[in-house]
Amino acid sequence: MTRRPAGWTVAIVLGTGTLAAAQKVVGPEEFDRAMKTIGAAVEGVEEALGSASYVEAKTPLALARQVLASTRPEWETNGQPDAVRMNREAVAALDALDKTLSATTVDAAAVTAVLGSVTRACDACHATYREGDAQTGYRIRSTVSRSGR
Ligand code: HEC
Repeated sequence: MTRRPAGWTVAIVLGTGTLAAAQKVVGPEEFDRAMKTIGAAVEGVEEALGSASYVEAKTPLALARQVLASTRPEWETNGQPDAVRMNREAVAALDALDKTLSATTVDAAAVTAVLGSVTRACDACHATYREGDAQTGYRIRSTVSRSGR
């Protein structure tokens, strides 16, 4: 199998930039960059898991977790308690995946199950708070009231 450079290595660079600039994401543009980083990082996780590279999966996983947590204050500032809760749940799902990958003997079925709960946690928030599509681009749903910006 030839190994192509993983997309998330780019995400790592971007993500590190995001984190260096600010430990918390402020405003829709930073939020968008953060989500792109999280998306690429989770793809990296899925790729690594696809070849049972459990240790390798932990690097993009840590990035996704870190950047996702850094988007929470944005929802707090905008008075969106449901989004804050969904953010917490998604971060918890990423933590559960990390825990599963840290077992002495990794249980492949458990990994698949926890990965499913990660996807559901991401989708739950997207269903409520995201609009747009891959062609036109994604945005925070315009019906979500944003205070002060
Ligand atoms: C609490 C809400 C919330 C959670 C949790 C969440 N997202 Fe998002 N996400 C959004 C919103 C809102 C947008 C649209 C805003 C944007 O893209 O600027 C978005 C956009 C995205 C995009 C599109 C970015 C683009 O513009 O191309 C990706 C990819 C993405 N999220 C991945 C994920 C993944 C993977 C997870 C789970 C690990 C996740 N998100 C969890 C709210 C969330």
